[in-house]
Amino acid sequence: MAENKRILLASRPVGMPAADNFRLEIAPVPRPAEGEVLVRIEMISLDPAMRGWMNEGTTYIRGVALGEVMRAFAAGRVIQSRHPAFADGDYVSGLLGAQSYAAVPARLLTRLDLSLGPLEWHLGVLGMPGMTAYFGLLERGKPQPGETVFISGAAGIIGSTVGQIARIKGCRAVGTAGSDEKCRYLIEECGFDGAINYKTEDVEARIRELCPKGINILYDNVGGDILDIGLAHLARGARVVICGAISQYNEPTVRGPRNYMKIVTARATLTGIIVFDFQERYPEAVEQLSKWLKNGQLHTRTDFVEGIENFYSALMKLYAGANFGKMILKV
Ligand SMILES: NC(=O)c1ccc[n+]([C@@H]2O[C@H](COP(=O)([O-])OP(=O)(O)OC[C@H]3O[C@@H](n4cnc5c(N)ncnc54)[C@H](OP(=O)(O)O)[C@@H]3O)[C@@H](O)[C@H]2O)c1
Repeated sequence: MAENKRILLASRPVGMPAADNFRLEIAPVPRPAEGEVLVRIEMISLDPAMRGWMNEGTTYIRGVALGEVMRAFAAGRVIQSRHPAFADGDYVSGLLGAQSYAAVPARLLTRLDLSLGPLEWHLGVLGMPGMTAYFGLLERGKPQPGETVFISGAAGIIGSTVGQIARIKGCRAVGTAGSDEKCRYLIEECGFDGAINYKTEDVEARIRELCPKGINILYDNVGGDILDIGLAHLARGARVVICGAISQYNEPTVRGPRNYMKIVTARATLTGIIVFDFQERYPEAVEQLSKWLKNGQLHTRTDFVEGIENFYSALMKLYAGANFGKMILKV
């Protein structure tokens, strides 16, 4: 008989998550109430933001309660619909949690068009991360042809997408990543103009070499030292887009930028982005991104881990930077 394997948040991590912060529970498959849809989940997305969701309290979203299913974006197939908007067999995504089945109100689901790309893309380049890259760069960064866009965490799903959109918009793209293999991927497959291995190279010297006229858009995914070095190289009128700070998520407190006075001297702006603010415009981004994917202007990679039991090891792969491509857990 079918059973629902669920990953629960058992305790709150202090610093880096530990295996015993999570508990695997076997529960009956939920029954959808009137207006709900039962989804058999096929893929779970592992996202850096999960670390923040494990904390108590509310930031842009409330923290996961202890004993609750760990929040996660996931995608799968409708096996019983009690809402007219969805039919059995439809592919859908949403915040369905780290589990093998979810019964959720229909309004929380997005119907997926698999003619645009495989299911995993709908959690990556055509899903929440792709939306973040698209709106973060275009609406916050406002790229102009000939400008230089510097991207930290560039081999991640958001960073690699930002750099490729920047190139499509006529900009130069330069990014940092944690291995030579990732840097080669950025140059050879994603068409970046420069890639810096921040673990082995002198980031400051390489930025000076690769961004001789300074950085016009700093798209920051990691925070910490790389953000500080990037700030020091802002060109006049630069836009700094703070998307995330993965280097800080497992630290007791987030270290803010040291070089922030460069915002003043460069007449720069510094803005944040929360992707959910663009929800109404997701269809526009999905349409554009899928065109670029189809005509070969945009490339993407996925890194799969198999088995919901391996939730913790997949999550740790992400925070160790051992993933190469969008981190997906196959249920
Ligand atoms: N604002 C929003 O609405 C929003 C939405 C989604 C995501 N985000 C943020 O966007 C950022 C990128 O997300 P993503 O989904 O693209 O991530 P991703 O594809 O999962 O990439 C994560 C990568 O970050 C790098 N990394 C890990 N620890 C690091 C550290 N200590 N220092 C530097 N790099 C480190 C690793 O690559 P290396 O090998 O290069 O180290 C890792 O592969 C995250 O900060 C995330 O929280 C923001």
